This record gives sequence, structure tokens and C-alpha cells, in this order.
Amino acid sequence: MFSLILLYLSISNGRVHCYGEKKAFSLQRLQWNQPSGHALSCLSGKSRRENGATILEMKHRDYCSGKIVDWSKKLQKRLILDNFHVQLLQSRKGNMAFGAEVAMKARMPLTSGINLHTLNYIVTIELGGRNMTVIVDTGSDLTWVQCQPCKSCYNQKESLFNPSASHSYQSVLCNTSACRSLHYGSWNSPLCGTKQPICNYVVNYGDGSYTRGELAREHLSLGKTPVKDFLFGCGRDNKGLFGGASGIMGLGRSTLSVISQSSALFGGVFSYCLPSTEAGASGSLVMGGDSSLFKNFTPFSYTKMVPNPQLSNFYFLNLTGISVGGVAVQAPSFAKGGVLIDSGTIITRLAPSVYKAVKAEFLKQFSGFPPAPGFSILDTCFNLGGYEEVDIPTLELHFEGNAKLNVDVTGMFYLVKTDASQVCLALASLSNEDEIGIVGNYQQKNQRIIYDTKQSKLGFAGETCRFR
Ligand SMILES: *[C@@H]1O[C@H](CO)[C@@H](O)[C@H](O)[C@H]1NC(C)=O
Ligand SMILES: *[C@@H]1O[C@H](CO)[C@@H](O)[C@H](O)[C@H]1NC(C)=O
Ligand SMILES: *[C@@H]1O[C@H](CO)[C@@H](O)[C@H](O)[C@H]1NC(C)=O
Repeated sequence: MFSLILLYLSISNGRVHCYGEKKAFSLQRLQWNQPSGHALSCLSGKSRRENGATILEMKHRDYCSGKIVDWSKKLQKRLILDNFHVQLLQSRKGNMAFGAEVAMKARMPLTSGINLHTLNYIVTIELGGRNMTVIVDTGSDLTWVQCQPCKSCYNQKESLFNPSASHSYQSVLCNTSACRSLHYGSWNSPLCGTKQPICNYVVNYGDGSYTRGELAREHLSLGKTPVKDFLFGCGRDNKGLFGGASGIMGLGRSTLSVISQSSALFGGVFSYCLPSTEAGASGSLVMGGDSSLFKNFTPFSYTKMVPNPQLSNFYFLNLTGISVGGVAVQAPSFAKGGVLIDSGTIITRLAPSVYKAVKAEFLKQFSGFPPAPGFSILDTCFNLGGYEEVDIPTLELHFEGNAKLNVDVTGMFYLVKTDASQVCLALASLSNEDEIGIVGNYQQKNQRIIYDTKQSKLGFAGETCRFR
């Protein structure tokens, strides 16, 4: 009787769903492997040009940070940092109702809202004729690299960028609109003394990391496509753990971002496919919208970007529903405000009422497995020791306009033990209903996600990420 009603509801919804849709989760295949090979080989990602688009190889930086001694500790630390990152984003929104956020705001008045520890994906670009490997971030705008001479630089794998070795390098002066655009792109006003005509920038990140230096123009090449007079930050005082990368590539929404600066070439369209964390896996960052380049195995479905004046350099979407195993979850707070889609948040965050409903439905369909204690921000955990493969309910996020993100099986469970014997549902609850929901990078794996900034729309399609 119950399933009959469900079937009826599903049909009246315009879709026929089979109750309890599942996917196989192979514990053998999905366990974390110790990265092998040389740390350096993971830098200098490849690139190519095809049909007017540029394709950059994208890798997970875990496989570039050398030998990781204690994975459990690393996995746990990552979630703690992820939570810190999310709190900062919430405080940026201007929600002053919570003591902790007020304190955080007072301590860090000018932050970009991102936490560099949680940014996970790297690409290689060519700047002033030099290959530079940078971390990709959809939540910030200014692209920067560490520069010589350096007042204070963290360790990086490549040698420092040297402006004096480049004929195309030009400093930007203070009295220019380029300098004034910093105000919007880095959330800090440019620093211009009376005797200092050079435009200096500062970007502070949520975890205490920062970069300071001068704004400059340089010849950028993205997979052999030149972007002339590209505005970037030449960082001379940088602090943070950037995993050996040379800087950051900003894919945010403001005029300073790579996307805006290359829009005459690529039409303001980019897409990525974030690879899973299996050793050696690579994905791609594609600049330009020619869909024949993608290897998606499901058609694209598009949703519009919704504006959010408080976090204007982020990308927001209208999340209208979630289904677990094909069953639409009922919760009152869908479609109320926008959710942010972010490359720098790991775990997807849902409003408490939504999370509760998703969790309940998941537990109903994934029953009979021994529970395990919660792990950091994750509270739906299982002990899967002894299993080789389990069938887990599918998870679909629905967005305005009938778009859907069908979460890949690699994005369902966060592995607490590296051998996958202990796992947790990789979703977390926000602390209150008014906070902003976030679609994290864990749930974006093995999807082609296309951002069309000109038409303000975003599309999803399933794709098994690879560079070639
Ligand atoms: C950058 O790296 C690519 C691929 O590894 C290589 O073909 C190219 O020559 C490099 N460019 C420079 C300027 O080193
Ligand atoms: C900016 O300042 C420089 C000298 O500091 C001057 O030569 C230039 O004309 C000024 N440009 C504008 C647009 O005011
Ligand atoms: C989200 O989409 C729903 C359904 O189309 C609509 O009713 C709602 O107003 C939208 N919310 C926002 C914030 O745009």
C-alpha cells in the first residue's frame, strides 16, 4: 500500500521512480591508496587546445604533497578545517546572530572566506613563459603566484616567478581602474601610499593564510591560448600551507577572475570534472563551452544561477529537492534561499531539517549494517569491515528547472578508515536553518559541471573524469 502511494506520487511528479534505487559501492576499489611515485611528477599538469577551447589537466593535490604518514589524522583534520571554512562563509553572509561568528569576524575582519587547506585541485598554467602549478578556486577571484624577490614565501615545488626575467611583465599603477577593481575581487582595498604609485594587494584567507604583493599584468597562456595583459597578483609576502603549489587560480564571478578576463576568448564559460581520489586519477578544467569536448555519459541538465548580493563572487543555485534511492525527501526548507556551489568546501552542507529527512530516508534504505560512531561533522556512520561490496541508495540533488546532480558513488561515503572498513555518509547538517547550504566538492566528483557566466546558468552531467 505504502509503495503504491509512493508510486502514485512519483508519477504525478512527472517521473517514475523505482523505490530503492541503488548503486554498488566497492570497498576494495574505493579505499584510499598511499600515493606512489614522485611528488614532482604530479606537478606540471598537461594541457591541450581543441575546437577553440582549452583543456587543462586537473589533479587532486593529495597526490602531490608527498608521503602522508597518518591518513586517519589527515582525514579528520580535513573535516575540522572544512567546518571552519564553512563557518567563515556563513559569517561572510553577515549573519550576526551567533557569538562565535561575531568573534571570528572581529579577529579576521577582511577575509576572502576561503580556507586554503580545503582547496584540493590543481592545474598548470603558463605565466610569462613559465609553467606554474596553481590551486583552482571557484570561491575567489584574484589569481596570484609567489614572486621574486620574496619577503616571505612558503615552500613551493617550482621555482619562484621572476618578473625581471619576463619582458611582458608590467606593474599596475594605483590610479587605474584595474587597481580599483581589487576592492571587489579580493575583498580588500588596494594599498596605495602617497609616494607609492604601484598598486599593492592583500588577500587574507580564513585560516590565517594570506598573500600580499603587487598587482601586475602578464602574458598568460592557458593550454597555448594566450590571454594578453592578464591581471594577477605577484605575491611577495605569502603565508599558508599551499601544498607546494605556486599560487591560486581564481574562478569566481568578479571582473578580476580568469573567467571574466578571458571572456572574449571563451565566452565566460568553463567546466570541470573533479576526479576521485584514486591514485593517479586526473580530471579536466575546460575553458570554453564546446560540448563535443566533454565525455559525459548522461545529458546536461541546466539550472539558473541565483544572485546573492552578500556573497557576490560565489555561485549560487536554487536547490529544490533531494531524493534518496529515488524517493523524494520531504522537508519544508527547500528552495527558500540559494545554495552555494563551491570547489573549496568538501562536504555538502544541508539545512538541519533537510539533513534530518535525508538521513532518515538513507537509514531506512541502507539498513542492517552495523553503525559506527560519528566522525567530526559526520554523524551517519557504518562499520563495513568484512564487506567487499555493498549496495547503497542513490542520491540526487534537484535544482530549479528540472536540473539534477546525480551524486557519483565515490561521493557517497567519506572513508574514516583508509581501507573503507569504517565509512560515514558524506553529508553534514548546518547548525541552523538560516545558514547557507553548500554543494561541496566531494559530491561533485565524476560530473561535468559547466558554468556559463554570461547566461547565468550551470549544468550537470555524469562523466568519468579523465584528461584524455
Ligand atoms: C610547460 O609544460 C609543458 C608540458 O609539461 C611543456 O611541454 C612545456 O614545454 C613547458 N613550458 C615551459 C615554458 O617550460
Ligand atoms: C597615473 O599616475 C602616473 C604617475 O604616477 C601618471 O603618469 C599617469 O598619467 C596617471 N594616470 C592617470 C590615468 O591619472
Ligand atoms: C526556487 O525555485 C522554486 C521552484 O521553481 C521557486 O518557487 C522559488 O521561488 C525559487 N527560489 C529562489 C530563491 O529563487
